[in-house]
Amino acid sequence: MSEHSVENGRVPRHLAIILDGNGRWAKRRGLPRLMGHRAGLRKLEEMVRLVKREGIRYFSVYAFSTENWNRPKMEVDGLMSLFRYYIRRKVEAIKAEGARIRFCGRKDKLPPDLLDQMRWAEERTANETVLDFILCINYGGRAEVMDAVNALVRARQAQGGDEQAGPVTEEELRRFFYLPDVPDPDLIIRTSGELRLSNFWLWEAAYSEFYFTDIHWPDFDEAALKAALADYAGRERRYGGLKP
Ligand code: IPE
Ligand code: IPE
Ligand code: MG
Repeated sequence: MSEHSVENGRVPRHLAIILDGNGRWAKRRGLPRLMGHRAGLRKLEEMVRLVKREGIRYFSVYAFSTENWNRPKMEVDGLMSLFRYYIRRKVEAIKAEGARIRFCGRKDKLPPDLLDQMRWAEERTANETVLDFILCINYGGRAEVMDAVNALVRARQAQGGDEQAGPVTEEELRRFFYLPDVPDPDLIIRTSGELRLSNFWLWEAAYSEFYFTDIHWPDFDEAALKAALADYAGRERRYGGLKP
């Protein structure tokens, strides 16, 4: 933990951010929506640096949901190109921060050359241990749970059927999630004023703290991050129990 950490030392181990408001940010400036997405992706490099300085160990961002395919083809194609460009350009800078890049989500539907680049970025940063920087692209919480259920059923069938195995436990199901080693998010921030989860970390968010701000993602800065972390530091987490 660095001297920049929030005063009482209660720093989230896993910080998750729903990057919302790129479109509105662009609209306010009379720019095309894709310019907002570009500004939003640019912001991530700075955020990785700041988050690392706060002593956070896992940083996940929701960049494209399983429902975002419903947007106009031009916007979806533009986003895929921006992901490709951003990954290629920023991997070294992120690696230099000691961050390991990981992707989380369904691998179907993504363009093959983007998938190649994602694999390359993961391999290139695989030995970094200061921070896990998790990009959720084509991620949906329901898709993750369903993929896990189906993988579990297949695994049990391969072992000769359900009867001997007994009921499915949470621990068993969790082993089939996309990133089973990553702890649940402690704090989920959503920018741009919307008060919903939009299918992010559905299972994992069971006891997450939430923080909402009206700031559009491309305008989210150090002060905004510090405000969210200070708010989190004052929360009392009870997990259904009583005040400690
Ligand atoms: C978030 O910004 C990025 C993605 C969902 C890809 P939006 O594109 O949702 O921005 P708004 O909500 O239209 O302002
Ligand atoms: C949530 O934002 C998904 C991401 C930030 C990737 P959306 O803008 O897609 O969510 P809704 O449609 O407002 O719920
Ligand atoms: Mg949005």
